[in-house]
Parts: sequence; structure tokens; C-alpha cells
Amino acid sequence: MNIRKQIAAANWKMNLSLQESKNLASAISQQDIDAGAGHAVLVAVPFPYLIPVQEILRSKSGYHVCAQNLASVNNGAYTGEVSASMLQSMSISYALIGHSERREYYHETNEILAEKINRALENGINPVFCCGEPLSVREEGRQNEYVEKQLTDSLSHLSKDQMKGFIIAYEPIWAIGTGKTASSEQAQDMHLTIRNWITKQYDADIAASVSILYGGSVKSSNAADIFGKPDVDGGLVGGASLIPDEFKAIISSLKKG
Ligand code: 13P
Repeated sequence: MNIRKQIAAANWKMNLSLQESKNLASAISQQDIDAGAGHAVLVAVPFPYLIPVQEILRSKSGYHVCAQNLASVNNGAYTGEVSASMLQSMSISYALIGHSERREYYHETNEILAEKINRALENGINPVFCCGEPLSVREEGRQNEYVEKQLTDSLSHLSKDQMKGFIIAYEPIWAIGTGKTASSEQAQDMHLTIRNWITKQYDADIAASVSILYGGSVKSSNAADIFGKPDVDGGLVGGASLIPDEFKAIISSLKKG
């Protein structure tokens, strides 16, 4: 039995029609998972597809639909936004928060993300907090301090109870959609840095309960190598999650027992 959840998370981003979404959800849910061994599958879909995809995944133990974002406030005059309380009313219990595309294109700062984390937790939604450095920072060798600052600014106000079983996704920006994956050693090194940060802020038991996913050009051919590292607890997958056989193979690459 794994000490923490091992998770294969799909991030469909802004892709697919409604019918294509339903077809893909049906196809991937054919893959059985070992929920008893702590395996889980999250499928992060565009807002309009949350309910139809939830309908399809509902009967599959260990499969959960996931929002890709939520608002930093609960309600009011914020045209175009979707709040955590709305998601709660739809029985959605997971949301990505702080994806690098949100940070870059929609100017979401570490401070705004701290608010989003709070709105999620207040409304019973499990955040999947995304972090990761750009290429320039990696080239200067400052990736650890960069990611630690993201964690400190957005998460360090959380209580031990809130951090227990939390989900973090490390996605180096230079590896997203580029076909250039971090090596499994680079992933392990950063995941250990993240787990050590949690130990320092909270304690070793809390750190051991947190699932840390790797994201950035994960595919069926590299998933087992990356997921096999001791501090890598699965992956957050973009492009390859749109191909049923690819994502099913990635699910079956989660670490066993
Ligand atoms: P790719 O798997 O397409 O590199 O995307 C990773 C990602 O951004 C998942 O959130």
C-alpha cells in the first residue's frame, strides 16, 4: 500500500468538442486502476464539459473530474469567472490551481494563487497546485529557490491539516508541450526539494502524505521511468492525455504498492 496517492492526471487544456470529450472520457475509463493501492485518475476538462464528463466517470472508482481553474473570490460581479462555490455545488472536488499557462497568460501571481487555494479549501475542493521554473531560471541553476518561493508565497499559510494529503504538480515550463522532458533524475531532484520544503514547514509525516506529480511532455514511453522515482507520485499530462491509448498506458505506469 502506497503511503500517498499515486495519480495520473489528464489536462485537456482548451481542446476538444463536447462529443470528442465524451468519447475520450469513455475510452480512458476503460482502463481499470488499483484504487485499493491508492491509485487515482484526475481528468481536468474545460468548464462546460465538467458535468458531462463527470456523468461518464461517476461509476468508475478512483476516477475524478477536475476543473482547470477557479476564481479567487466566491461570487459577485466578475464576468466570465467560475467560483469554487459553484464547483462545489456541482460536486466537483478537484481543481488545478496555478498552471504556468494561467500564470503567464492571465497574470496569476503567487499571491492571487494563495487566494485561489483558500477558496478551493473553503469549498471542499482539493487543489492540484502547479509550480515550476522557466528555462532561464534552470539555465542559471536557480530552479530550487524559484520553486521554493512559489511554495512559500502560495502555500505556507496553510495548516497541517490542510497540507495533509495535498497534491502538488511540478511542471518545468521548458518541458511543457516541447517534447523535452526533464530527466527522471532532474524530476526526482526537484520533487525531493519540494518534499523537504514541506518537512521544514510542517513535518515529515505531512511531507510523506503529499502527492507530488511531474508534468512536462510525459508520454507512455517515459512515464514508467519518471514515475518510478521515489518522490514522483504520478504525472500531470497534457498532449498525451488526448490520445486514449497513450493515457491508458500512462495510467498503468503508476507505481505499484
Ligand atoms: P504536455 O504534457 O503537453 O507537455 O503538457 C504538460 C502540462 O502542461 C500539463 O498540465
